[in-house]
Amino acid sequence: MDPLMDLSRYPLEAIAQRIGTPFFLYDAGILRARMAEVARTAAPDGTRDRLHARYAMKANSNRFVLDAAREAGLWIDAVSGNEVGRALRAGFASGHEPPVIMYTADVFRDNALATVVEHDILPNVGSPGMVRELHEAGYAGPIAIRVNPGFGHGHVQACDTGGPSSKHGIWIDDIAEVHAAAKQAGYPVVALHAHVGTGPQIAEFDQNMRRLVDVFDALLQQFPDATSVNLGGGIPHAYRLDAQRYDLRGFRTLMLEASSTLSESAGRPIALEIEPGRYPVAGMAILVGRVTDVKDTRSNEKGPGQRFVMVDAGFNDLIRPAMYGSYHHISVVAPDVEARATEFVNVAGPLCESGDVFTRDEDELLLPRELPSPQPGDLVVLHDAGAYGYAMSSNYVSMGRAPQIAWDDGAVTLVSRRETLDDVLRAETSEVLAV
Ligand SMILES: Cc1ncc(COP(=O)(O)O)c(C=O)c1O
Repeated sequence: MDPLMDLSRYPLEAIAQRIGTPFFLYDAGILRARMAEVARTAAPDGTRDRLHARYAMKANSNRFVLDAAREAGLWIDAVSGNEVGRALRAGFASGHEPPVIMYTADVFRDNALATVVEHDILPNVGSPGMVRELHEAGYAGPIAIRVNPGFGHGHVQACDTGGPSSKHGIWIDDIAEVHAAAKQAGYPVVALHAHVGTGPQIAEFDQNMRRLVDVFDALLQQFPDATSVNLGGGIPHAYRLDAQRYDLRGFRTLMLEASSTLSESAGRPIALEIEPGRYPVAGMAILVGRVTDVKDTRSNEKGPGQRFVMVDAGFNDLIRPAMYGSYHHISVVAPDVEARATEFVNVAGPLCESGDVFTRDEDELLLPRELPSPQPGDLVVLHDAGAYGYAMSSNYVSMGRAPQIAWDDGAVTLVSRRETLDDVLRAETSEVLAV
């Protein structure tokens, strides 16, 4: 949990009365502080432009967040044509010089290829056939290549970002072939990229970064046009109260050393890039829901009885616990909460899905949480909901997506309203297709 997050600051009940529950609340001060921290970590050192940070906007692509990234001086990593479009609308520059927006994906879908071609966006090719697709679409310009270096995984094993079982990037032995295809198409390969993720242990992140630098050190000899190396995202965020916080000053040292090592062995300046998503946004947000009921099951031959605290937020709002068994710290907000005894409970949402429980472990089993005995009418806060929260939320069971509120030193702004039935139905048509 972000040490700057202090629930007593926010008029949660007043906001809930005004716009209903659930809602996301974003603290603009924390957002700006974390964006600035990332920017400082990758601030150019000396005369050469050696370091850059992109914001991986998939983590949270709200305009309010993109503005904070742009104001901090970060560039963008986008994964769809529409993400590129949102970045352009938020004022990030198009073009290759410099490549402020990079498109990183293993597939061109919908408008992605056309957007890359039209706005001169640097494509970061994650599958060999993408070079042919670019050529057929008339793309002219440089490319980056995303490498699968054969190792790495995210904060949980299920998040498989590198190795034989990962779908991401181009297997390292096939890079030469893709390079040859790029040459034939007239595309200089200006950047080499990998994203291997956080790793389950904090120490693993640095190890992974160092291993990546070695991989790129060997590869760079084959890429005379490459001027930058991108180590991806994955800067760890401390979701648990007792988790160690990652020290970004050490990471800056690692980046500077890596840039020097790579530049020396390549015999030319090699800039180093990172593209964190989660780190600048995870801790600035909470998801606030209301307890609607508390109910019990009883022990029988199938297992022990459980207490369920029913809330109006579900995995349609925050899917990480259901998808990965991810941990989010939970607080109960009520005037007399300090005086209450604690008990172990399961916090569950409104969806007709057994997985709609926020208190689960990595094996998707219930993991009751010790909380001040929740009562109907209390507010329940899921912390660290800023990354892959609203961005992965959905209209499942035709519920409208929850509103997003920005809190900026006392000023409360609605940055997206609760979706209505009309919003949910907006794309429905009865158009007859002549096929
Ligand atoms: C290519 C790429 N870059 C950056 C990120 C951001 O990772 P994180 O949010 O862990 O920093 C991701 C996450 O999926 C990614 O796939």
